[in-house]
Amino acid sequence: MKGVILAGGLATRLRPLTFVTNKHLLPIYNKPMIYYPLEAMVRAGITDVLIITGPDHAGSFLNLLKSGKDFGLKLDYEIQEEARGIAQGISLAESFSDGERIMVVLGDNIFGYNLKNSIENFNKRERGAMVFGIEMATESKQYGVIEIGKDKKVISIEEKPEKPKSNLAQTGIYMYDNRVFQFIKKLKPSKRGELEVTDLNNCYVSEKTMECEIINWWIDAGTSHDELLRANNLIADKVKSGELK
Ligand code: DAU
Repeated sequence: MKGVILAGGLATRLRPLTFVTNKHLLPIYNKPMIYYPLEAMVRAGITDVLIITGPDHAGSFLNLLKSGKDFGLKLDYEIQEEARGIAQGISLAESFSDGERIMVVLGDNIFGYNLKNSIENFNKRERGAMVFGIEMATESKQYGVIEIGKDKKVISIEEKPEKPKSNLAQTGIYMYDNRVFQFIKKLKPSKRGELEVTDLNNCYVSEKTMECEIINWWIDAGTSHDELLRANNLIADKVKSGELK
């Protein structure tokens, strides 16, 4: 299993903080945001990681993360020329994957869940994909929303629906077999002109090979200034209580 972190996009929702830097380089308490998905890869036992980012600040990622040696990883870098969607970003990992399965983590997602067992279980399956859901106390409709049936099987995923079918939000953690690249080639741009990760995930849902695991705490730090602040406060509390380093 190889790792892919998506750290591109325009981050317009976080302007003016993101006028002259990339969102994933902003601080979350004591570390740059990108450290959190990277450390999630390390916890999961993944040793080869591809970082995909836009052309504007790619050099800053290299300066910060270098070869990945300090994290115990081997890092590769790929440029997404334009922010044409998460699935389009994932398509850039095809040659890096070299036929292996991939775990994708969105660069603004922060969570403590250890994905090691999930990878082991996923690797026992003949084919398919995995999404990771989180129960939302309030509205789930600003995210992808997952409906699950028996045996972790996913029945539907809807992107930011007006009337969510459940309170289970789709996080930015995904595992795919290597057919993912064939599925992406068949996707059509959405109304906002992007290849959507939800449309990609629904390719697996329609062949009934998409499963969902539920995780505990999670935060998408990139959606608003308030969520960025909440992420900073949450991580500060967890560091001070000794739960996180
Ligand atoms: O974080 C979870 C949510 O992420 C899911 O619930 C949604 O189903 C999924 O569509 C996505 O929604 P967002 O609206 O939060 O996606 P956003 O455009 O903010 O991009 C998420 C991350 O992906 C962010 O770290 C930037 C990166 N990205 C995004 C795009 C559109 C890229 O690297 N390239 C891109 O072209």
